[in-house]
Amino acid sequence: MINVAIDGPAGAGKSTVAKAVASKLGLVYLDTGAMYRATAYTALESGIDPCDGEAVEKMLEGMKLEIVFEDGVQQIYVNGVNTTPHLREHRMSKAASDISALPCVRYKMVELQREFAAARDVVLDGRDIGTFVLPNANCKFFMTATAEERANRRFKELVEKGQDVDYDTLLADIKQRDYNDSHREVAPLKQAEDAILLDTTNMTIDEVVAAVVERVEQTRRNSDGEGKGQTPSSDTADEKSDNKKAEETAAPLTRKQKREAKKEEKLLKRIKKYYAPDKTFRMYRFLRVFLHPLQAFLWPIKAIGAERGRIDGNAIYVCNHYSGADILLPCYVLFKDEAHVLAKYELFKHRLVGWFLHKLGAIPVRRGEADIDAVKSVLKVLKEGKKLMLFPEGTRNLEGSQDMADLKTGAARFAIKTKSPIVPMMYYAPPKLFKRNWLYIGEPFTLEQFYGSMTPEDMHAATEIIRQKMDEARAEVNRIAEEAKRK
Ligand code: DC
Repeated sequence: MINVAIDGPAGAGKSTVAKAVASKLGLVYLDTGAMYRATAYTALESGIDPCDGEAVEKMLEGMKLEIVFEDGVQQIYVNGVNTTPHLREHRMSKAASDISALPCVRYKMVELQREFAAARDVVLDGRDIGTFVLPNANCKFFMTATAEERANRRFKELVEKGQDVDYDTLLADIKQRDYNDSHREVAPLKQAEDAILLDTTNMTIDEVVAAVVERVEQTRRNSDGEGKGQTPSSDTADEKSDNKKAEETAAPLTRKQKREAKKEEKLLKRIKKYYAPDKTFRMYRFLRVFLHPLQAFLWPIKAIGAERGRIDGNAIYVCNHYSGADILLPCYVLFKDEAHVLAKYELFKHRLVGWFLHKLGAIPVRRGEADIDAVKSVLKVLKEGKKLMLFPEGTRNLEGSQDMADLKTGAARFAIKTKSPIVPMMYYAPPKLFKRNWLYIGEPFTLEQFYGSMTPEDMHAATEIIRQKMDEARAEVNRIAEEAKRK
């Protein structure tokens, strides 16, 4: 099976190249941008704002999107209506960019795209094909060109069609879409590490097509060789190394490799189960009896304002994070309630540690990528009225400094999506053995002004509010701790 992924920003020429490559190589071409455009069209036609996350999510529940090929040309039917004639309308570009930032839309499209690619030899073009939709694609390309060159191409194309367009407006539109597409939280536009970069600023379409075709053919030859257990002949150094890879993978698996593959499969299955977090928190309650006195002895913490964290129903506690010792205490002991935490995926690979974390209600998360399973789990627990404790810096602050790294927008997204209040918390310093530390719990707040929106700008503005509230908590904890030290 051949899967070719072509990603890149708007107007880089991806669809022209993908179509030509597909026709030369006998592959099926899927224009994934058209799927986002069709979704945007359906929203606009129903009077739904493409940025209104809630309304779009509702719309998706009853939406049936079908990809059909009529005379070899892709058509997208939504609820039985062919949307294709409307997809290139100017208003659809901005609407598609907005709607594609909504996680609910991406999950639905990505599922359909994966299903489509699993069944045939394909070329997919889009923004996240190599990084997210088909991370194991055989050939990945990242096509780009300067914004000016892309605006210029679009300008010429529209003028040829007899449309009255303004170059500066086109350029501004392209820059805005670049920003939107590369700053969204879920699967943003970025080059996959193993993608071949094609800067087409000074290349003709034919040159780009030839480069892509050559590479795909080379990969095909290598995998044919692999299938037959032969070593394909090679000319270039590059080909030689590819052929070597093919040879390596063509060799039959040793017993040890088979055992390892089985082990890996089992491991993945086990971790998958942990994405549904344990509801009973039995371990949490059990540990509380021992761990709290132990923690109080080893790392005594003075909590200020714990009553503010005791909330009925869902809530997100956001806190600075220095070490494992700062996680357990606040949730159960201070707030008399359990909170789920996100823990890095790798920790769950270890059987005992994974089981233990699971029993503590932890949810695995693959860091540095859009982990759909983790997002779904978090939304589910919050919607069920439970609590989440998040460290919005995304990782521990190993320097032990009070300065926080850039905050991730996840906390804002979860809070907006589930209408959860946020409780800002701040430790005074990293825990030190037998030294008293201070933890300030601030006034809960909501991000109500952003409900219904998921635009990247709003997510950054909402995250900025979280940062301000955490800064206020820091000022308070510093004031109180330093006053106490003076006394
Ligand atoms: O490629 P295009 O201009 O038709 O795409 C329309 C919008 O859809 C674009 O702004 C980004 C989005 N898109 C996406 O987010 N992921 C894809 N795989 C394809 C398109």
